[in-house]
Amino acid sequence: MKHLLSIESLHPQNITRFVDSAVNLKTRRGRHEHQPLEGQTWALIFSKSSTRTRVSFEVGIRELGGNSLFLSTNDIHLGRGEPIEDTARVLGRMIHGAVIRTGSQKHVEDFAELANIPTINALTDDEHPCQILADLLTIREKLGGWDDRKIAFVGDGFSNMTRTWCWAAKLLGFEFVIASPAAFQPPADFLARLEAPNVSVTDDPALAVAGADVIYTDVWLSMGQEDQKEKEAQFSSYQVNAALLKNAADGHIVLHCLPAYRGKEISGDILELHADTIFQQAENRLHAQKAVMARLANDRAV
Ligand code: CP
Ligand code: NVA
Repeated sequence: MKHLLSIESLHPQNITRFVDSAVNLKTRRGRHEHQPLEGQTWALIFSKSSTRTRVSFEVGIRELGGNSLFLSTNDIHLGRGEPIEDTARVLGRMIHGAVIRTGSQKHVEDFAELANIPTINALTDDEHPCQILADLLTIREKLGGWDDRKIAFVGDGFSNMTRTWCWAAKLLGFEFVIASPAAFQPPADFLARLEAPNVSVTDDPALAVAGADVIYTDVWLSMGQEDQKEKEAQFSSYQVNAALLKNAADGHIVLHCLPAYRGKEISGDILELHADTIFQQAENRLHAQKAVMARLANDRAV
């Protein structure tokens, strides 16, 4: 595998392999004999804020023997109009891998093609594949796996997170239900392209959560939408709280990719009740991404 640009483009076996490898790397943290990034410099090119993604990649690169270089797009010429194509062709001659957070999925794909070095999508408007790998690792740890599980997503039904979950559900076959106001549900052309009978959409959060093993939420306003207060107002009955979870499956878990806004998409008491799982999920970003980088570096070397 050359890059990790989306979950949509993966084979199901690759997802399982990443999760297996992340389990192994997590167990052996601090005792890695193999340093697949030894002598390498990987750049993080970010045009959006980040706590978890930035830190987990920078730490992960070092733990695999490499050096990291954080490049905010405000600090490089990309932020003042130098084309992504030129940036890619320059950086591709200097660095060994790239981790990109930006809006446009096409920019990440163009960079990967022109830089010709392992490239990882660290969040675009279309997908957040690294987050999903960490989420699946958490589900494996907490519930033993995702087969025959029902996963409910409550909130913005067509954000980068929901889109990525849709592709994961299609590839892995678990039941995935999105509860979202009608205006924020996945459009018909996306669902037609997805072609996944195990993915369904409703505007009734109670229906989605009934019998669910995993209840997932994310911010109502994604990065860049902060001024869309009128959007937020439409989500008031889509909060993950104790009343909503009443009919979830016994032993259910609550996941949140973070950052969380208590009192909005999740109540403060539910976040704290499930904090062990949610912060384990955040930690799992490190292990999942190490698995991705190790695989890309190894595949590049052969
Ligand atoms: N979940 C996630 O990607 O967090 P950051 O925005 O802090 O990186
Ligand atoms: N949907 C959120 C995810 C943050 C990790 C955003 O794009 O801001």
